[in-house]
Amino acid sequence: MCGIVGYIGKKNAIPIIIEGLKRLEYRGYDSAGLAIINDKRQLEVFKQKGKIVALERIMPQAQRTFSNIGIGHTRWATHGKPNTINAHPHTCSQNKIALVHNGIIENYIALKTKLIDHGYSFDSETDTEVLAKLIGFFYQQDNDLVIAVKKALKLAKGAYGIAVICSDDPSRIVAARKGSPLILGIGNDEFFVASDVNAVIIHTHKVIYLNDDEIVSITKDNFEITNLDNEIIEAIVSEVDWDISTIEKGDYKHFMLKEIFEQPVSVENAFRGRLISKMSTVRLGGLNMTPADLRNIKKIQIIACGTSWHSGLIGKFVIESLARIPVDVEYASEFRYRNPIITPDTIVFVISQSGETADTLAALREAKARGVKVFGITNVVGSTIARETDGGVYIHAGNEIGVASTKAFTSQTTVLILLAVMLGRVNHIDPAYGKRFINELRLIPDKIQTILQSNDYIREIAKTIMNSTNALYLGRGLHFPVALEGALKLKEISYIHAEGYPAAEMKHGPIALIDKNMPVIAIALKDDIYDKIISNLQEVKARNGRIITIATQGDDLVTDFSQDVIYIPETIDILQPLLSVIPLQLLAYHIADLRNLDVDQPRNLAKSVTVE
Ligand code: AGP
Repeated sequence: MCGIVGYIGKKNAIPIIIEGLKRLEYRGYDSAGLAIINDKRQLEVFKQKGKIVALERIMPQAQRTFSNIGIGHTRWATHGKPNTINAHPHTCSQNKIALVHNGIIENYIALKTKLIDHGYSFDSETDTEVLAKLIGFFYQQDNDLVIAVKKALKLAKGAYGIAVICSDDPSRIVAARKGSPLILGIGNDEFFVASDVNAVIIHTHKVIYLNDDEIVSITKDNFEITNLDNEIIEAIVSEVDWDISTIEKGDYKHFMLKEIFEQPVSVENAFRGRLISKMSTVRLGGLNMTPADLRNIKKIQIIACGTSWHSGLIGKFVIESLARIPVDVEYASEFRYRNPIITPDTIVFVISQSGETADTLAALREAKARGVKVFGITNVVGSTIARETDGGVYIHAGNEIGVASTKAFTSQTTVLILLAVMLGRVNHIDPAYGKRFINELRLIPDKIQTILQSNDYIREIAKTIMNSTNALYLGRGLHFPVALEGALKLKEISYIHAEGYPAAEMKHGPIALIDKNMPVIAIALKDDIYDKIISNLQEVKARNGRIITIATQGDDLVTDFSQDVIYIPETIDILQPLLSVIPLQLLAYHIADLRNLDVDQPRNLAKSVTVE
C-alpha cells in the first residue's frame, strides 16, 4: 500500500516527511517523492523511482531548504509503471498545486478526456495526475483550495486518501479520504497527515482517524473537518497506546524474524483476559452477545484474504467441530461479487490484520447491506474495518511490520479457537473439555518458545532446499490450512513456487510432480488421522520425494521416510496449528534470507492491499 506523510508547523517539514516515509517503507513501494512550498511561495517537487534513499540523493540542496509545510508519498504502482514520471506528488497545470494519493480513481479516463477537451495535457500514466489537474481546474475558478478539492472529489469515483498543498495558500494542507486510510496527527502547534499512525507516532500519540467522505483543512494553528456538502464533522481524538519501540527491529535482522519470535507473547495477548476459568469457558466482550444470542447463531460466514483467509479455514474446522454450527469461509474478492446467499440467522466475521484491505472492507459493506451483523477480527485499533463492523475482537498482536504475516496469523487463529470454545460451551461442550482447553492453551506460549529454540536447526534445513524451484506442503484436516499458510510464506518472501495441498488429495494429480528435486514439507502430528498421513508420506517416499516432516516430539516412526524432522511439543488437536505453523514460518524466513532477498518488503507486495 502507498504511504502518505504531510506536515505543517514550526519545524522543517522535509526531514519529518522523509523520516515518516521511512517508517512506512515496510508497507511496500517502488517510488517516492515530496513537495514543499519554499520561502518564495514556490512549489518545489522532488520525486524518484526506487527507495527513499534514491529520493534523498536527488535533493541535497533541498535538504538544507527550510519549509514548514510539505507532503510526501511512497508509491506502490497501480496505474502506470513504477518510474519517476509516475511517482507522486503530481501537480496542477500551473504548478501551484501538489497532490499525493493512495487508492484508485476508477473513472480517471473519463475525467482525463474532459480535461483534454479543455486543453489539458498529461505527463504520466497515472490516475493521480488527472485528480491533481482536476483540482487545478476548479481552483482556477474559485481560488479556494478546499472548494476545489471538494468539487473534484465529487466527480471522482473510487478510493482515495489524499493530501494537497497550494503555493498560493502556503499555510494550508487539505486532506481527504474515501476507502483509503488517513489520519490527522495533533502535535504542539503542528499537525501531521499520514496514511498510517506509524509515520507520526514518534511525534504525537493524539490522532484523528478520518472517515470516508471527510475532508480536513489544516493550518498551523487549527483544523476543520467537513464532508463534501460542507457540513462540519465533529473531530474524535484518539490516544494511540503503543510507542515507537514496537516498530523498530531491535536486535533482529528483519521485522519478520522479530515478529516470529514475539509469538509466545502475542498469542498470550490474544487470550489474556478472555478465559473464564470458573465457568470453563471464554468471554469475547467485543461481540456484545449474550449466551442466548450465541445460541441463536445458526450459520457463520467468514470472509478474508490471504493469510487471514487461512486462519478462517482453521476457524471453520474448530467451530464446526466444537459448536456444530456450519461455517463458510470465502475470499473477500469472491464473496463481494457473487451475489451471496446470506440467511437471516447468519453472522459474518471479517478477518483482517490491517483492517484496511479493500476487498475485505467491500465485502463487509456488502454483508451489512444485506442486513446481517458483521463482526471484525482485526489487529489495528481504529482501522476502517474495526470501525465499520457491528463489534469485534482485537487480536492484540501489536504492530506487524513484516509484509509476510506471522504473529497476526497465530493471534487470529487463537481468537477463532476461543470463539469456537465459547460457541461450543453454549451448545454441546461440557465444562471438563472447557477446563482442559484452558489449561492447555495456557501452556502454548511456552511450547512456542520451545519450537523457537530449533531456529538454528531449521536454518540448516533451509540450506538444503533454498535453491528449489518448487515445493509442496501437505497437511490433513486442521493442518491443511497450515500447509496453505506455509506455502504462502515461502512464495511471498523467497519467490519459490509452493503449493499447499490436502495430503490425501496429492494422489489425484500433484503426485506426478514428486521427484528428488521437489521438497515436500508435511505436517504429520499425532492425532486421529496420523496413520492416514503417514500412508500419504510413504507414497511420496516411494517416488524419491524429499520429505521434511513436522512431527510430534517423541515420534520415531517418521524418521524412516523423512530427510529431516522438525519436532514440536504435543497439545490438544484444536491448538496444534498454533505450533505446527511456527517451523513453516522459520523455514520460509531462512530460505528467503539465505537467498539474500528483501524479507520484510518482498517485491510486488504491500503490507495492506487497499486497492481492489
Ligand atoms: C500474508 O503474509 C500476506 N501479506 C497477505 O496475504 C495478507 O494476509 C492479506 O493481504 C490480508 O491482509 P489483512 O489481514 O491485513 O486483511
